[in-house]
Amino acid sequence: MGFQSIAIDGPAGAGKSTLARRLAGALGFLYVDTGAIYRTLGLFALRSGVDPADPAAMEALLPRISLRIDYGPDGGQHMFLGQEDVTQAIRLPEVSRASSAVSAIPAVRAYLLEMQRGLAGSRNVVMDGRDIGTVVLPQADVKVFLTASPEARAQRRYAELSARGTPQDYAAVLADMIERDRKDTTRAAAPLRQAEDAVLVDTTHLDLEESFHALLDAVKRELKA
Ligand code: DC
Repeated sequence: MGFQSIAIDGPAGAGKSTLARRLAGALGFLYVDTGAIYRTLGLFALRSGVDPADPAAMEALLPRISLRIDYGPDGGQHMFLGQEDVTQAIRLPEVSRASSAVSAIPAVRAYLLEMQRGLAGSRNVVMDGRDIGTVVLPQADVKVFLTASPEARAQRRYAELSARGTPQDYAAVLADMIERDRKDTTRAAAPLRQAEDAVLVDTTHLDLEESFHALLDAVKRELKA
């Protein structure tokens, strides 16, 4: 029997990573956060003094990057640049913006495609991102498009940043969210969109528990179908 894969796509702040991680735990699958991979490339660009929106400069940078993903005994995903664990550093707002810019570059997406497919080739995974159901794993057993209104998503991100001790103005978080949505959905290379065979889960009016159960129910239904 082959391995099973569950693809979860959607915009920033829809709760994808929290919910996908929990779903993976409930099913005994590995959770793969592909946004963290783009973020690590974004961080590397910033540190290298390269404009993350410059396709030629980014393409030239790719052979120099030493990017590694490690899964701890608890299944937690850690991102490394060389020997340095950058799992926390990639969460900063400037890295979010850089990752959105690098993710629009076709050479970057092509570079990361095999890495992502490889992760799903040897175990059962729940993989989240923007193009998992449409491009990376078009044969996924279950595809979910997880979304919520921009205001609900900005509110959650705002609370998350405050809890982490890096508070930001709500209006700025919302503006950032809307701009990132615009970039992610309008870029030419693998834009964010719902796959035709994906189930829609909208968490605008749901709290975390309710969202998780909506997701779990949808996935169980699809796995049976
Ligand atoms: O999910 P996230 O916020 O950590 O993702 C960071 C950026 O990477 C986001 O702007 C979109 C991009 N991304 C992508 O283009 N494709 C993916 N599969 C995952 C993330």
